[in-house]
Amino acid sequence: MNEYILGIWDGHDAGAALLYGNQVLCAINEERLSRRKLEVQFPYRAITACLAYARIAPEDISAVAVSTYDPAKTLARLFPATKEEYYLIRRRKKRPGLLTALKKRLKYKLTELRGNTLSMRVSLFAIRHQLRQLGITTPEIVFVDHHRCHATTAAFFCGHPSCLVITLDGIGDGLSGSVCTVRDGVISIIAELSGKHSLGIFFEHVTNLLNMRELEDEGKVMALANYAYPVPDHENPLLDLINVDGITIHNRYGSLRLYDELKKLLWRYPSEQFAYMAQRTLEIKIAELVANAMRLTNVTDVALAGGIFSNIKVNMRLRHLPGVKSCFVFPHMGDGGLALGAAAWVNYLRNAIVAYPLHDVFWGLDYPPEELEQVARSSGFRFQYCDTPAQKAAELIAQGNIVFWFQGRMEYGPRALGNRSILALPGSRTIKDTLNLQLKMRVWYQPFCPSMLDEEAVRLLQDADGEPNRFMTMGYMVREKQRECLEGVIGIDGSCRPQMVGTETPLFRSLLYALRDRTGFGVVLNTSFNIHGEPLVCSPSDALRTFSMTGNQYLFLGNYLIQQKT
Ligand SMILES: [Fe+2]
Repeated sequence: MNEYILGIWDGHDAGAALLYGNQVLCAINEERLSRRKLEVQFPYRAITACLAYARIAPEDISAVAVSTYDPAKTLARLFPATKEEYYLIRRRKKRPGLLTALKKRLKYKLTELRGNTLSMRVSLFAIRHQLRQLGITTPEIVFVDHHRCHATTAAFFCGHPSCLVITLDGIGDGLSGSVCTVRDGVISIIAELSGKHSLGIFFEHVTNLLNMRELEDEGKVMALANYAYPVPDHENPLLDLINVDGITIHNRYGSLRLYDELKKLLWRYPSEQFAYMAQRTLEIKIAELVANAMRLTNVTDVALAGGIFSNIKVNMRLRHLPGVKSCFVFPHMGDGGLALGAAAWVNYLRNAIVAYPLHDVFWGLDYPPEELEQVARSSGFRFQYCDTPAQKAAELIAQGNIVFWFQGRMEYGPRALGNRSILALPGSRTIKDTLNLQLKMRVWYQPFCPSMLDEEAVRLLQDADGEPNRFMTMGYMVREKQRECLEGVIGIDGSCRPQMVGTETPLFRSLLYALRDRTGFGVVLNTSFNIHGEPLVCSPSDALRTFSMTGNQYLFLGNYLIQQKT
């Protein structure tokens, strides 16, 4: 019997996901609806949106799966003002107070504690109360361990009934990672990595010390590292801070001391050098861990989840490890994917479902054509109906224009995959600076990504053998002779993070075909439809507001082309 299972996560990048049988009916993060990036509050809006999308009532839900029940999370559920304060300070919206440093140190210590019966009961009390406000009164509320949620997303969505699953992040339920084997869908944990020895917290500290926002700007550290003069490994002191022993990790210092020691080292190095050393350390240590796990288990299909695996250069290194047959990263690898992981785990417990088709991740909201037309009409801008928006958009892009592209259901996860995207020519020398500095207001060194027809991948990339990467989760190296024509979408080291577009998104694919007819390459620069600091646009009104704010010339809302008056 199929049941509606609702998954929720109410911490960093809160969200909800609704499953029915082996289908993801709807999955959405609260940030897209509250319009605050990486929202931390209880996902009232996301839950409501999931139910509305599936046209079901609260009483239709058979069970609610909730991620994480450690004491730190439980206290935040009882006192949500504390997490709101941390959120505002972390995002530089509020000045740190006198006690901020002390509170932060306490938080690090507290998060090292694992969940227990008491914390689960107290969490249950808080969650039940919040669900009741939405009319959800099911007695079946199940708490799922943080890393089990991450592991479940990797295991059940990777397409391999048997594989090696590795999860790594900062910390959750007292752990910073896990190593699991999956055989015919049955997940067995073979190692739990202590939260006291966290690779995620190591990189979080580095991010913080470089005056960037932890839990948000780790990708910038990775991008900055590309601009460093490489430091030989024997001169990299960060490598000595972490020791991988078999499938366990030992940091030389605890989380708090690690921060102080990193701070002591930082003054000797320019920022980009420090970023390079940290990135290099992360890559080497994780590669060691994964190689050891493969050797131990004899399993060569690897599936990954947890915030660390948003680092595409780590993932690229793992994909190239000797012996790796396949390397899958769950598309919403960070905590934003926990709600879906919790739901999938409870669906396994209740209904024995161990695999989900992963054709695409367009699991968010969509809007009917009438609503798009109404928004276009009331926008105050010039607009027209296009029978063939993909062809028209390709024509505008080929002329050198930047096009805002809003189509169908919103993407789940951090990447825009052609439904909420900003598109431009990939080969333009100036496009990176125009987009970064004028339109998106990001730092200059952050690269943009290409979306390409999957049949173009071999021609353009050196290492595109194996399964096409549909979800922009991996780094690839661009062929030397193609670097000039992809100048706007590659890092200074020649790497890129491509989306290889197949049949999952026919309209976007036809745009790429039309672009290939005009430019010779079925490739477009694809960046998320938002400005820096804001989440991806969700509704047509969000799209219109961003369009007005940036002053860009062209916006497609479905079949409607809206133009600024000039
Ligand atoms: Fe996590």
